[in-house]
Amino acid sequence: MTGEAAVSVPGKTILFGEHAAVYGHPAVVTALDLRMMVWAKPRPAAGPGAFRVKSDEPGDLADVAVEIATDGLNVPPEGLEVHIESAIPPGSGFGSSAALAVAVVAACRRACGDDASPSEIARLALAVETRQHGRASGVDVEAVLRGGVLWCRRRTDGSLEREEIPVAAATLDTFRMFHSGTPLQSTGEMVALVRRLMDDEPVRVGDAFATIDQVTRDGSRALLRGDGAALVDAVRAAEAALELIDVVPAGVRDAIRGIEAQGGAAKISGAGGRTGAGAGLILVAHPDAAWHDRLVRPSGWTPSIRA
Ligand code: MEV
Repeated sequence: MTGEAAVSVPGKTILFGEHAAVYGHPAVVTALDLRMMVWAKPRPAAGPGAFRVKSDEPGDLADVAVEIATDGLNVPPEGLEVHIESAIPPGSGFGSSAALAVAVVAACRRACGDDASPSEIARLALAVETRQHGRASGVDVEAVLRGGVLWCRRRTDGSLEREEIPVAAATLDTFRMFHSGTPLQSTGEMVALVRRLMDDEPVRVGDAFATIDQVTRDGSRALLRGDGAALVDAVRAAEAALELIDVVPAGVRDAIRGIEAQGGAAKISGAGGRTGAGAGLILVAHPDAAWHDRLVRPSGWTPSIRA
């Protein structure tokens, strides 16, 4: 039966593993308490075009998501109206495009009378992300669809290995999140730049990915045993490897050196950026809450919600 459907989906943060995840290395991801709401319902009357999307998000992605979600379904003859409202900063590593893909797919399927399973929603949402970014690991989609702290790895056959990591809330308190400004490059552009670097300098990228793989495993064990000091080490090593593949703009690197000089660690989370002032979401790590309170925040960075 067709009808109105409302879906709420959280944003995400990648604690460890971005970029390397696209090439089959593991990632550790978690949902964020910033949400996107999507409503889908049959349009009141037929008009030009079958769909109308009202959104504060980039329209193209919503259109792609509606198209992929409704492919092969009995769409109501008058078409669908899709309305999107979001508190997730777009294009900045907070998972806005994964949330949009998942929420639009789930809402449109439901509005067309199809109760898709979470795995089917994940498959369609990954198709949306892949169309948008060229290549996508699927870890962002898993983070926003399943919630919690997850270990994920894309296998060579395209399926996804996923395991929940039971992490104490106090351990997640090691991290604070900041928005350093919207990157100039999109996720698709950053993934393509890394691909090009991989073709030009395979040893450099291979070394960086090997480090990211190891750090993701170390970080995941540190999360499990609640070892804040080991998490700080893992975040430092992850950031150094990400800098090696040029996904951290110069100004953000300098700001992160400042945080390290104060005894903490910080890393980009998500695709990062190549040029410009911002790299989107930044994770800052230190086991002591009082240290976070004393931290001199880099100019232009705004605090965000915790994981
Ligand atoms: C983007 O949030 C994370 C990347 O690793 C891309 C992906 O995993 O699809 C850069």
